[in-house]
Amino acid sequence: HSEVSRVKNLKSIQMGKHRVESWYFSPYPIEYAHIDILYICEYCLSFYPSPLMLKRHLTKCQLRHPPGNEIYRDDKVSFFEIDGRRQRTWCRNLSLLSKCFLDHKTLYYDVDPFLFYCMVSRDENGCHLLGYFSKEKESADGYNVACILTLPQHQRKSYGKLLIEFSYELSKVEKKHGSPEKPLSDLGLLSYRAYWAEVIVGMLLETKEEISIEEIANKTCITPADVMHTCQALHMIKQYKNGYIINLTDAVISQYEATKKKNRHTLRSENLKWKPPV
Ligand code: COA
Ligand code: NA
Repeated sequence: HSEVSRVKNLKSIQMGKHRVESWYFSPYPIEYAHIDILYICEYCLSFYPSPLMLKRHLTKCQLRHPPGNEIYRDDKVSFFEIDGRRQRTWCRNLSLLSKCFLDHKTLYYDVDPFLFYCMVSRDENGCHLLGYFSKEKESADGYNVACILTLPQHQRKSYGKLLIEFSYELSKVEKKHGSPEKPLSDLGLLSYRAYWAEVIVGMLLETKEEISIEEIANKTCITPADVMHTCQALHMIKQYKNGYIINLTDAVISQYEATKKKNRHTLRSENLKWKPPV
């Protein structure tokens, strides 16, 4: 409860070959506060105050991928589903790590009600965590994402969009609209707006007939409210008689084309092997 506990404690984190600065306070045990570098096992996410202790751990650690089922694989990435109740320690370690980069979330201890969808890249050594999102097993508010994080060493490479895309692929299997838990961070909001715009404008460009907000929502699993807000933010809603029409502008189209030129990696829906957990 003290003021001191709100202060950013750790300076930086070493994970695999990457060293990154910590952004915010994370409640690692007190004996790890105020050290310069925390050494994290990139597989089991346990943490050590010295490189020697990590090295000793690595001679024993057997884990080479997140401790759950691989539910998606393509040539670039895989996704694993991890149950917070069954893998409590791993998920708490993940939450402690992600709290270093999240200002407003406080759910780092009670991991039982969540599933964790972890995205990795693979090489001959194992699976390397790129980012993840958590999702409530039951969300009364229709949220399909609780927390979402791209590890800082992998940010600004479109992995955030890929994580968001995956969250909507799960919603499509569930046949439900979904939206991220609020409040979103500034970076979270920027990423969602970019994703929503890409998907909605793409759909408008490929649809010859008239299409309503509800139809876009049903095809994408983005909630009607998020579709409407996105269209409004892009100035695409025009009042017309007693209703509205969605009107693609040249500015929106050229923004969309610039995004498409970057040719980001996208998911293959048919590679998802998943049924909603019962
Ligand atoms: N500055 C400006 N725009 C940014 C940005 C930044 N630092 N980071 C992301 N964006 C915007 C861009 O529009 C980008 O699209 P573009 O590259 O085509 O221009 C879009 O968001 C998606 O970027 P992407 O590379 O896919 O995102 P990312 O892998 O960097 O991950 C987050 C985005 C939000 C997951 C990441 O910033 C993060 O983990 N932040 C800390 C945790 C957090 O705040 N989570 C959300 C709240 S729960
Ligand atoms: Na906080």
